[in-house]
Amino acid sequence: MSMAMDTNTSQMETQSWTRICALDDIPRLGARVVKSLHGNIAVFRTFDDEVFALADRCPHKGGPLSQGIVHGRHVTCPLHSWNIGLSDGIAVAPDEGCSAKYATKCENGYVYIRF
Ligand code: FES
Repeated sequence: MSMAMDTNTSQMETQSWTRICALDDIPRLGARVVKSLHGNIAVFRTFDDEVFALADRCPHKGGPLSQGIVHGRHVTCPLHSWNIGLSDGIAVAPDEGCSAKYATKCENGYVYIRF
């Protein structure tokens, strides 16, 4: 699922953090896609309500990680089932590669990202 950033984004910026959506806009064990100047970013929510953001491109062949299966702190790519760490973007061995990661935080029920 794709979404644009809040229209009030400029008002919501605190230092370099940009508010992107409410936490509840992201399904548990799911993801939303944020379009940015840096390309599509997949924002994941774990079962424990942790939020992580990675470039929506698998380090293998560019599969859309936002459509993968979230389990624990990993996502399994929908194309060839590589497992990617949500906290660091690094593929689990024996696979090798890394997706760009972005810092996130949750405050008062909203998710913020630092580009
Ligand atoms: S593109 Fe993700 S595992 Fe191949």
